[in-house]
Parts: sequence; C-alpha cells; structure tokens
Amino acid sequence: MTTTRRDALGMATTAGVAAVSVTACGGGADDGGSGSTQSVRVPVTDVPQGGGLIRDDVVITQPTDGEFKAFDARCPHQGCAVGEVTASAIVCPCHGSEFDPASGAMTQGPATEGLAARTATVEGDEIVVS
Ligand code: FES
Repeated sequence: MTTTRRDALGMATTAGVAAVSVTACGGGADDGGSGSTQSVRVPVTDVPQGGGLIRDDVVITQPTDGEFKAFDARCPHQGCAVGEVTASAIVCPCHGSEFDPASGAMTQGPATEGLAARTATVEGDEIVVS
C-alpha cells in the first residue's frame, strides 16, 4: 500500500483539527484559570438571611428567607474582590463601590456596572454555585 500526496494532506488536516480541538478543550474549567466557571459548594447555614458569604471567587447572598443569589466576587471597577456583605449592600473595599445583594446591580460607584450573576441552586444542605 502506498500513501499518495492527497492521503498525506488528508492526514495532516485531520491532525490539525485534532490539535485545535485539544487546544480548545485546554481552556476549560479544570485549567485553574480565571475560576469564573468553577462551581462552589457551601452549607446553606453559612449564608445568613439579610447577609451573605464570600467564598473563593463568588459572593452568595440570601436577601429574603430561602432565596439565594450568587455573583462573581470580582468588582467590575478595577477587579478587586468584594469584601463585605450587609443587609443593604455588597461592598468593594478598594474604592467603595456598592452592589445590591438581591440583584448585584451597582448602587454606588465608581463602578459603572453591577456584579456578574452566577447560578445558585440548593441541593440538600448545600448551595451550589455554578
Ligand atoms: S475595584 Fe471595586 S470600587 Fe474600585
């Protein structure tokens, strides 16, 4: 059996596609990169009503009884991690921006936009943020 030039090109093209696919998969959730897509699990009891919890790269709040919300903890102003959750605000310690604990919307600048929403789901005794 002989390999023609056309066969060789076909194999090279297939190998190129495989390499691209591997590269594309390399940026997935297990790469330790930005972490914005990593899921986080916390006990339900760690997130007080009218307050919240900052864990890893997320902030989890419970604005009303049994309603959990989650947002990226990275402030959209210059990227600091938010540092405090009160009944009325998620506060960034760097320049004082504040965000609504129920919606993540910016309520005080200098940030000009709100926190990015994440999905919070209650599974048994835990809140899973994805
Ligand atoms: S980085 Fe949050 S207010 Fe500036």
